[in-house]
Amino acid sequence: MDVLVVDHPLARARLTTMRDARTDSAAFRAALHELTVMLVYEATREAPVAIERIHTPVARTEGYRLSNPPLLVPVLRAGLGMADQAHKLIPDAQMGFVGLARDEHTLQPTPYMESLPESLAGRPVLVLDPMLATGGSMVHTINLLTERGAADVTAVCALAAPEGIRRLEESGLPVRVVTASVDERLNESGFIVPGLGDAGDRQYGAV
Ligand code: PRP
Repeated sequence: MDVLVVDHPLARARLTTMRDARTDSAAFRAALHELTVMLVYEATREAPVAIERIHTPVARTEGYRLSNPPLLVPVLRAGLGMADQAHKLIPDAQMGFVGLARDEHTLQPTPYMESLPESLAGRPVLVLDPMLATGGSMVHTINLLTERGAADVTAVCALAAPEGIRRLEESGLPVRVVTASVDERLNESGFIVPGLGDAGDRQYGAV
């Protein structure tokens, strides 16, 4: 499985802001928005393009547009903080939604909503979730996508744990990962170390 770590200095700086416990919710959301732009930019580097003829004010030339824009799938809640920025970069993209809450004791994802197109055959998908921890939420989400025929899925995560990467690898699902960092490990509560805490709570407050 391909894992692309976007360790550009500007990405590292945004991730540092997100990691810092002193960062308030507004600044955390702003840093995640900016980091999302960098991650989606790299995640779509090989996206197929169609060539079209255009006129500049000076001459005729060839231009490009995405020929098969991906479906964007933020995983609620935390992935919502990546959705708008990804959509601004790919305005023609459709968006689906998956709602999952991880049980804090069992660490299993509990699904509470799903809104996805019926068929995803031939369509690339970008799953947006700031955190890949045990990988349970991502495996659940990608299973929903592959049941609908998706065969080209990219997990776009601010941060990943080695345990989550391993879980995805072992699942055999058609996925690659684009992240700003693969951290050290998970702790006994299933939090990424050093991590950034809980990306949903840090953006929206604990519920
Ligand atoms: C977090 C995170 C992922 C999941 C990662 O969400 O945003 O969706 O946990 O953990 P996993 O890899 O072990 O499954 P959470 O369930 O806390 O919900 P929230 O987005 O509503 O805060």
